[in-house]
Amino acid sequence: MTDHGQRFAGKRAIVTGGASGIGRATVLRLAAEGAEVLAVDMNADALDALAADGIATRTGSVADEATARAIVGDWAAGGAIDVLVNMAGVIRSGHVAETSLDDFLWCVHVNLGSTFLMCREALPHLERSGGNIVNAASTSSQFGHPFLAGYAASKGAIAAFTQSLAWEYMKRGVRVNAVAPGSIGTPLAQSVQTGMVAGADWDLYTHMQAPNGFQEPDAIGGVIAMLASRDGAHMNGAIVRVDGGVHA
Ligand SMILES: NC(=O)c1ccc[n+]([C@@H]2O[C@H](COP(=O)([O-])OP(=O)(O)OC[C@H]3O[C@@H](n4cnc5c(N)ncnc54)[C@H](O)[C@@H]3O)[C@@H](O)[C@H]2O)c1
Repeated sequence: MTDHGQRFAGKRAIVTGGASGIGRATVLRLAAEGAEVLAVDMNADALDALAADGIATRTGSVADEATARAIVGDWAAGGAIDVLVNMAGVIRSGHVAETSLDDFLWCVHVNLGSTFLMCREALPHLERSGGNIVNAASTSSQFGHPFLAGYAASKGAIAAFTQSLAWEYMKRGVRVNAVAPGSIGTPLAQSVQTGMVAGADWDLYTHMQAPNGFQEPDAIGGVIAMLASRDGAHMNGAIVRVDGGVHA
């Protein structure tokens, strides 16, 4: 990997969704730059591969209140928390007219709920360390995704939550930003291609896909590291679109 320096030397971070895709790339990037990282995910097998590389891991659902509290509390017992990266996320397609309330709220519960819970638990520690948060918005936060309305609604809410939290903590020394990725090659993005609900008009997707194709997760991991590092010190409440320019 490119030598990006040691911007996170002596820093301690938590990355949710750390076993796969963008979260995993962020774990590896922060660790390569000197951070002590806790990778959190529901996928125990995928976490094992990171553990073999010397990364601290924790299996559990960050959408569960008691689990989120325990994860943050236990990591804080070992020292400061300087960075929280909330990348855990789920996606499911459907026609709005055929979607039950429970199905619609599933993405909201997991994506928005876990982001809220982890932020709430980590904020007192981040206030002490002068730390910061990076959340996972999406191009759908601002521009929408057809047949993925529950997912897009969860991501729009994460963008609004991020900006609200940035205001609330602006004078208290905690920065809160989000990335809004698009066209990143991960299992989640792949599942949209393979798991699309029957009858969806695929042509509606073409305008959302980067003409240069799906990019590696580190294209986002590098931006997250910038936001979370001293290089992002003047960035707060930013929703940083990283999609190859397709929504420019
Ligand atoms: N890939 C893209 O193009 C893209 C675009 C916009 C936004 N995003 C967002 O980026 C984030 C990372 O997505 P990715 O593309 O790397 O997907 P991914 O599927 O590779 O990774 C998501 C990880 O989150 C974990 N996870 C899901 N629910 C969890 C829970 N309740 N508790 C703990 N872990 C949980 C999964 O096990 C998985 O390892 C997501 O929030 C996603 O919505 C991705």
